[in-house]
Amino acid sequence: MVLRLLNGLRTLRRPNHHNFLCQLMNSHREFLGILLAPISTPPFDFRHFSDAAQLLPKESSSPERASTPNDAKNNNNATRVSSKSSLNETELAKFSAIAETWWDAEGPFKPLHALNPARVAFIRSTLCEHFRKDPNSPRPFVGLRFADVGCGGGILSESLARMGATVTGVDAVEKNINIARLHAEMDHVTSTIEYCCTTAEKLVEEQRQFDAVIALEVIEHVADPAEFCKSLAALTVPNGATVISTVNRTMRAYAMAIVAAEYILNWLPKGTHEWSRFLTAEELVLILHRASITVHEMAGFVYNPFTGKWVLSEDISVNLIAFGTKNLR
Ligand SMILES: C[S@@+](CC[C@H](N)C(=O)[O-])C[C@H]1O[C@@H](n2cnc3c(N)ncnc32)[C@H](O)[C@@H]1O
Repeated sequence: MVLRLLNGLRTLRRPNHHNFLCQLMNSHREFLGILLAPISTPPFDFRHFSDAAQLLPKESSSPERASTPNDAKNNNNATRVSSKSSLNETELAKFSAIAETWWDAEGPFKPLHALNPARVAFIRSTLCEHFRKDPNSPRPFVGLRFADVGCGGGILSESLARMGATVTGVDAVEKNINIARLHAEMDHVTSTIEYCCTTAEKLVEEQRQFDAVIALEVIEHVADPAEFCKSLAALTVPNGATVISTVNRTMRAYAMAIVAAEYILNWLPKGTHEWSRFLTAEELVLILHRASITVHEMAGFVYNPFTGKWVLSEDISVNLIAFGTKNLR
């Protein structure tokens, strides 16, 4: 397997190879750097996961940074949140460029539309159990305040509002928020959603808190995943819920979520994902732990080519969704 990959990589390095392979190699230098490292001088710089050294839970942390007056004021002393921005301008520009297509179910966001029923099923099941609500009710989340962080065009926010939640959707890209608002206004149920062009850390500064904070397919696009999780925790009431979905940093995810989805099937625009920005499931659990969120449940998604649908699965090797709760103290 490894030999086959290395042979493949040798082919990739030949001059005049096919454009597709050339593009793929250029956009995935980090991944190829890891593969080649043991056998040669790495031909590429590899950007290590920035929080790798800080992942293990610590009793008293080393001085990561001096606290600032902007640190979370409303965090029940559980987590300290820095004023550091979660914004990664390169990542945001990708979403801004295709913002008009959010509600085109056959467009660049087709995978999110396709995944939505399965992720909503996970949220309904875990949050109904946690908040002791009836999972068979059409509107089980009445009375609960949910934040959808990195809501994009509102695909999930609208589903949550239809299930009765009081939803605040936030996204750093103004075009996304405008599209989300326009779309939500088309139905009186979704027109209740509060959309704001802002970030999780700014909501923390405003001392906002929610029963559940959800960030689907966002953490792989933020500047600092650990700080982002601390902001999510600060936005969650004690014993409230947090749900995060992302792509696992595995070889299989590289093959499926990048090579297949972006370069072969054209499900996503090329360059949507950078493999080195992904977290492994263990890293996600650890940074959530350090942010005072305990993960209780995790699931993956698998595609059924016969039905054309995604379903929840125990296989978390490519996509994963995690449910956790904020520790009481
Ligand atoms: C892949 S989309 C996911 C959209 C939505 N959560 C969903 O799954 O349907 C990622 C979204 O996160 C937003 N985003 C990225 N970094 C962000 C940040 N630091 N704060 C707020 N939103 C952010 C992007 O603008 C984009 O809309």
